Amino acid sequence: MPKNKENYFPGLEGVNVDTTRLSFVDGQQGKLYYCGYSIEDLAENCIFGEVAYLLLHGELPSKKEFDEFQSALLAERYLDPHLKSIITLTPRDGHPMAVLQALVAQLAMHDKEIADRSLEAKRRKAIRIIAKLPLVVTYFENLRQGMRTVEPRLDMGHAANYLYQLTGKEPTEEAVNVFDTALILHMDHGCNNSTFTCRVVTSTEADIYSAVVAGIGSLSGPLHGGANERVIHMLESIEELDEVEPFIDAKIQAKEKIMGFGHRVYKVMDPRAKILRKLAAEFVVDDAEMDKCLKKANLFYNLTEERFRAKGKTDIWPNVDFFSGVLYKALGLPRDFFTPVFAISRVVGWLAHHFEQMEDNRIYRPRFMYEGAELGRKFENSDDRE
Ligand code: SDX
Repeated sequence: MPKNKENYFPGLEGVNVDTTRLSFVDGQQGKLYYCGYSIEDLAENCIFGEVAYLLLHGELPSKKEFDEFQSALLAERYLDPHLKSIITLTPRDGHPMAVLQALVAQLAMHDKEIADRSLEAKRRKAIRIIAKLPLVVTYFENLRQGMRTVEPRLDMGHAANYLYQLTGKEPTEEAVNVFDTALILHMDHGCNNSTFTCRVVTSTEADIYSAVVAGIGSLSGPLHGGANERVIHMLESIEELDEVEPFIDAKIQAKEKIMGFGHRVYKVMDPRAKILRKLAAEFVVDDAEMDKCLKKANLFYNLTEERFRAKGKTDIWPNVDFFSGVLYKALGLPRDFFTPVFAISRVVGWLAHHFEQMEDNRIYRPRFMYEGAELGRKFENSDDRE
């Protein structure tokens, strides 16, 4: 911490770096809006493609616009054979987020329009990226499981095809619906770290793929999207319900961060966590293992909230990552796929922000407060150095 704290904003807390029309996070009321629509409204009434269109175009699509948007996404629902062979060579123990980062860079190299910087070409690239990201990770999972690789289906929506390619089995309608809603909930979220990262990279006028690669890297961190994977790891490490309480107490005593809790903006429960908790409860039926996992998660949530409140910390609540993991586990997703699922949804927000940043761009270039060695000290030969 510098001695002079004037103009010093660690973590850029409270700093407005730009304006946006895309989403608004009301941290006091626990509300989230995309282009003015509440997340509850969109989650209840829309599907992935409609909300993606909303963020990319500012308005929900008409029937004709939606059909054209879906057709454009379907036309890009394939992987070039060369890309497939690159995934084949990828180490099977690599994290799927690293696979995504590497393959988005490869997608850029395979994009024949890479040098075309027109808005029309950029919009086509955005469609390409949204369509191909899920294919990359599902293809990788097929190989990792040693199974026959599953080709995409063109008669399925974005969410359904993802679940289908992951397992080779047609998902139930209920599974598709809850997964689709989860994707909608994760699409955009104000100036979160990965979106800010994308905007910083975009501000250099780097290409759209570079912004997405950077966003994936940011999202992978445990303080950001990487938390969902760690939540389920934490819950699975607690075997019985009566072990939840001592586990939380030990964490709090050791002053360790509890994954899936806390938020820079929300001072009440994250509205996405509320919806995901409800979806998980509705989806988890007749499965003893999942039922126990959900009971542990709910007990964990109640006790943690109680403990923080007793310490006077009334603003630490579950965030989006706490209940999403329980839902993804119930959907049969591998644990290291939870953050990639976040990425295949959030990429829509990153792309929308890429376009918004370019409308009125100025390169991001803040400052550091220098606290290093005496300025102007003199060079000494290595023989004279201590
Ligand atoms: C996401 O920003 C976004 O929009 C992100 C996101 C999105 O949609 O893009 O919502 C998605 O990234 C969700 C967050 C996932 N991360 C985690 O669940 C990791 C655990 N959470 C924390 O590390 C933390 O709450 C953050 C990273 C989410 C927020 O960090 P801040 O704003 O820098 O807050 P902080 O770490 O300075 O905490 C403030 C206080 C501290 O106490 P004091 O030192 O002031 O006494 O709250 C305490 C913290 O110790 N605290 C926690 C805690 N979160 C905050 N204590 C224990 N466990 C926690 N999880």
